[in-house]
Amino acid sequence: MMLKNLLKTSLLFILIVALGSNFSACKHDPIIPDNTIDTTGTDTTDTDTTNTDTTNTDTTNTDTTTVQQPHCDPDSVYFEQTILPIFAANCATSGCHDAISHEEGVVLDNYAHIYDEIDPYDLDNNVFKAIIDDSDNNRMPPPPYQRLTYDQTLAIAQWILQGAPNNSCVEPVVVCETTNMSYANDILPVLQSYCIGCHTGANAGGGVVLNTHAGVKASADDGALLGSIQHNPDYSPMPKTLPQLDSCTIAQIASWIQAGALNN
Ligand code: HEC
Repeated sequence: MMLKNLLKTSLLFILIVALGSNFSACKHDPIIPDNTIDTTGTDTTDTDTTNTDTTNTDTTNTDTTTVQQPHCDPDSVYFEQTILPIFAANCATSGCHDAISHEEGVVLDNYAHIYDEIDPYDLDNNVFKAIIDDSDNNRMPPPPYQRLTYDQTLAIAQWILQGAPNNSCVEPVVVCETTNMSYANDILPVLQSYCIGCHTGANAGGGVVLNTHAGVKASADDGALLGSIQHNPDYSPMPKTLPQLDSCTIAQIASWIQAGALNN
């Protein structure tokens, strides 16, 4: 109990510090680690759609010179873009908290069901306590699944403290840069946000492993990766149970595959 309280106190402290910094969470790769709290080591700042590249001479982009006001509040966490993908990939999976399995009566597959399990403005609820529980016996997701990342945990905490709203926000894409896509900077952050929770190791959905470059390349080479995210009827639509990726992200992944799906 003492330990839990300590954990909670320290988490709250971290939260206060992190919320004070410019924690931004509304992008098409929605778990945007601030540089100070980036645990993945991947730089996602270049996917910021407000960051218009003035050196870009690509003629396909000249019709989109108007820089629109961003609609998303950089200090807010959005349920649809950030929170639902975390629960869908890590909790609402088959055998766990999907509508069919509902382990211990808990279903975490949509807003109403998730809201049922938490209390707004209050981190003292079973779901959040299980996420930060430091014992392998009690933590969620349980072993062999990976713990939620620091950024994912922080996003859930921030969203609860915002009152757990059913909010959504998509930044208008002013410029969609699709040339010279990098696996580390452009592709991996998308996979981490939307896919890897269901596509890791022995539990990988459909046997498709997406947490290694070799696995991603194999799926890219056989056409399933692009087919599934484009919702080509020959493939299972991905990300499973989530809205389709935005068209810019799909175009970026297509371009990276076209260029050889390199580990660049
Ligand atoms: C909630 C879990 C979940 C998420 C999130 C998810 N997948 Fe899947 N995926 C599965 C399962 C399960 C299968 C096996 C086929 C099925 O059940 O539809 C699968 C199958 C696939 C396949 C094989 C499709 C085929 O028809 O051969 C590909 C490729 C794939 N996923 C890619 C992705 C990508 C890329 C993402 C992220 C954009 C993603 N998945 C997100 C669970 C998931």
